[in-house]
Order: sequence, then structure tokens, then C-alpha cells
Amino acid sequence: MEKKKVYVETYGCQMNVGDTEIILSILRDAGYEQTEQMDAADLILANTCSIRDNAEQRIKGRIGVFAQEKSRRRGVSEDEPVVGIVGCMAERMKEQLLEDGRVDLVVGPDAYRNLPRLLEAVRPGSPQIDVLLSRDETYADIRPVRTDRNGVSAFISIMRGCNNVCSYCVVPYTRGAERSRDAESIVREAREVFAAGYREVTLLGQNVDSYLWKTAAETVNFAELLRRVAAIDPLLRVRFATSHPKDISDEVLYAMAAFPNICRHIHLPVQSGSTRMLELMRRKYSREWYLERVAKIREVLGADCGLTTDVIAGFCTETEADHAETLSLMEEVGFDWAFMFQYSERPGTLAQRHYPDDVPPEIKARRLDEIIALQGRKSLERYRAQIGSEQLVLVEGPSKRDSAASCGRASNSMMCVFPGTFAPGTYVKVRVIDSTSATLLCETI
Ligand code: SAH
Ligand code: SF4
Ligand code: F3S
Repeated sequence: MEKKKVYVETYGCQMNVGDTEIILSILRDAGYEQTEQMDAADLILANTCSIRDNAEQRIKGRIGVFAQEKSRRRGVSEDEPVVGIVGCMAERMKEQLLEDGRVDLVVGPDAYRNLPRLLEAVRPGSPQIDVLLSRDETYADIRPVRTDRNGVSAFISIMRGCNNVCSYCVVPYTRGAERSRDAESIVREAREVFAAGYREVTLLGQNVDSYLWKTAAETVNFAELLRRVAAIDPLLRVRFATSHPKDISDEVLYAMAAFPNICRHIHLPVQSGSTRMLELMRRKYSREWYLERVAKIREVLGADCGLTTDVIAGFCTETEADHAETLSLMEEVGFDWAFMFQYSERPGTLAQRHYPDDVPPEIKARRLDEIIALQGRKSLERYRAQIGSEQLVLVEGPSKRDSAASCGRASNSMMCVFPGTFAPGTYVKVRVIDSTSATLLCETI
């Protein structure tokens, strides 16, 4: 029997990358194989993101492209592809996505097990939708089809959803309530990828520090989960994202310190340096609390521990003084790099319902530019500070610019480039001899 072909585009965060791997696994069992060519696909999927308006606009553009592909094929053959929108935008927009007849299938993040059944029911003029959220779905038993290119680094979802209600954020509405995945199944999956040759796992969740798995016999918190995954093998690197400043515990920092293979990098989104803004954002910490957490990280893991962040410019009612506090916090902490955004109002969120989106676009843009410029300077400082140091790099493959050189990340997550060709998945010791603001240029030792 000839297999059907699925073409998938993935947008948004790493959680969506992990979900695409789950979707591909479910579809494989239903007789689909993946294709990189849209024009060869029986099924075209977009795994979508709603975090900012521009993310959704981009996907609306892609729906137009998929519609063109449908009408092109209508001309040449009977079998038009089925077009499916899955992920966060499917959950947020629901039936709205079906209104203009260009989409055949809408499936939310907790309904992927129903994909085969929904696909069988799709007919021209009778689209299918399932956007039910679940309290307990974690896809724990599904073996994801890995989509990474290098066979070195795998993502493992350890939880789904989010129980924080940061006032600007759409994620709790698109992904539902927080639930942790069975610890045993996580450790098993990490063992399996290690046995398959992978040398790095990234444990994923919107707020990994609140991971909690309880059975009659035991309670596993995030620190304990980290220890169990790190104990699989010293050659298996462990990374994780995202940490929440209100929840990252000393126990997690000490677990990191106890295992050299837990990478020295923490992504700790601050959002704003102004306590007044943080309160409006409902982040449940203050500027001082954040700075104390950073001090503790550096005390336990050393000043070279990689530290990165997310920042939002121009949230509701933000004044020049609030903005100046964000800049001064960034100056004081010195992040290695950051994701920086203009505030984008999202329908249905607390902020949209209760606060005015009152910072004019040109002021948001100017503040964001100042944040980006400051971070550029800080990144260069942080990278240059590594010159002369030794780093252990996990090779990912040939350098993009120079095929006679290899690249891979140091424990602190900084990208390293060095001469010589090494097999992906090997560890190489290097000395840093120069840097840009995003790459360490190294020699092997
Ligand atoms: N769970 C993670 C973040 C998930 S979203 C955490 O709490 O840190 C990733 C980032 O997108 C957020 O950290 C925030 O900086 C940004 N973001 C979320 N909602 C946004 C909005 N409405 N406008 C602009 N940026 C937003
Ligand atoms: Fe959104 Fe806040 Fe949850 Fe992060 S912690 S996903 S920012 S609600
Ligand atoms: Fe986007 Fe959903 Fe991730 S909104 S950032 S894909 S959780």
C-alpha cells in the first residue's frame, strides 16, 4: 500500500518543535510519511504560534500559500491536499479558521491523538475540528519522530500547559492547565535517545521549575528529575527551558552544580526591570527578587554560568522611568543574549481586558531599539570575557561558513567554531582565542 505524505511547517517555540515530532509519530502509525515538498503532500500542516500578532499574521500568509497549492492541484488532478492548522493558533481561533473555506482541519495541542480519525472524516465542504483541552494529556507513551538534523540534540517535553496567568500572555489559553509528565517515561525517553547516539537532551516546559510528579510511592520535583536524567550517563548533556524567576529553587542550582553534564546555562526571562511593570504583568516577583536569583546562580554556578533572558518593551502604561529600569537591570546583570519583543496585545488576556495598550508604536519601537543596542554591547562583553578560557564543546557538525571547521556549543550555550572536522556528537576541548557577539572562535587543545 502506498504511503500518504505529510508536509509540515513548524512555528513558535521549542514546545511546538516537540509537538511536531509527536504529530509525526501519530501520523506515521496512521500510514503517513514525512515529505519536505509541499507539492508532493497529501496533507499540509502548519503547527502554529499565537504569542504575538506578527506570528499569527505570518501564518495567515502561509494559509494563502496553501490555498494556492490546493487550487493549482485542482487543475491537474483529483487529489487536492488536505490543509490543517494545528497548535496554538488553532486553539485560539477555533472555528474562525474555517470561515473562508481554505482550511480543512483545525486541531488544538491536546487533541493530536484524534488526528487519524479526523483525517478520515475530512471531505470537501466538511472540515473537521477538535480543540478540546485536556487535564491529563501528556503524550507520555508516544515515541516522537525526531526532526533534528544532526542526531546530537533531542527535545523532551516534561510538562504541558501553564498555570501562571501573566497578564500579557496567551499561552495559558492556547495550551491549557499545567500538567507534568510521568517521570519514569521521561527518563526512559532520555535513555533511548542516548542509546540511539544522541548526546544532549533539552527538557522542555513553560515553567520547568514547577514540574511535579506524584505517585503513591514517590514525589519527583524538577531538581530530582534533573538528577535522574543527568545520572543516565556523564556523556549525556542535559539542558532545560524555560525557568521562571519566581520558582527557580536553590535545590535546582545545587543539582546543576553536582553534575558537570547539566549545562551551565539558565534561560531566565525577566520581561521588565521595573517592579511596577512586573506587578502589572503578574509575574509574581520584583526587580530585587530577580537580582537576588541572579546573584545566587552566580554564587552556586560561578560568574561564567550562561544567563539569557526575554524582555518586553512598551507594556501597558510603561513610562520612560520604567523603561530606564529595564535598561539598568540589563546593564547590571549582563545577559549573554536575549529575545527582545515589543508588547503585542493578545485577545482574551488579562491585559487586553483590563489595561490600555497605551504606549504608541513608535515609542515601543524606540525603546526596543535601545534594549537591542544595549544587549548587543553586553553580548560582545560577555563573549569577549571568554577569550583565553577553555571550553568543552559538543560537536554539532561542520561550521556554516567554513566546511573545514566544526561548530558546537559550550556548556554555557555559547556557539564555538574551531578548525578540523569532527564527527557530530563527539566532545572536543578548545581554547577561546577571539569572539564576535554571538560566536567564540577557538583552537582545539
Ligand atoms: N513560559 C515562558 C515564556 C513563553 S513565551 C516564560 O514565562 O518565560 C516567550 C516569550 O514571549 C515571553 O517570555 C515573553 O517575553 C514573550 N511574550 C509573551 N507574550 C507576549 C506579548 N503579548 N507581547 C510580546 N511578547 C510576549
Ligand atoms: Fe506565558 Fe507567563 Fe506561562 Fe510563561 S509563565 S507561558 S509568560 S503565562
Ligand atoms: Fe507560541 Fe504556543 Fe509556543 S503561542 S510560543 S507556540 S506555546
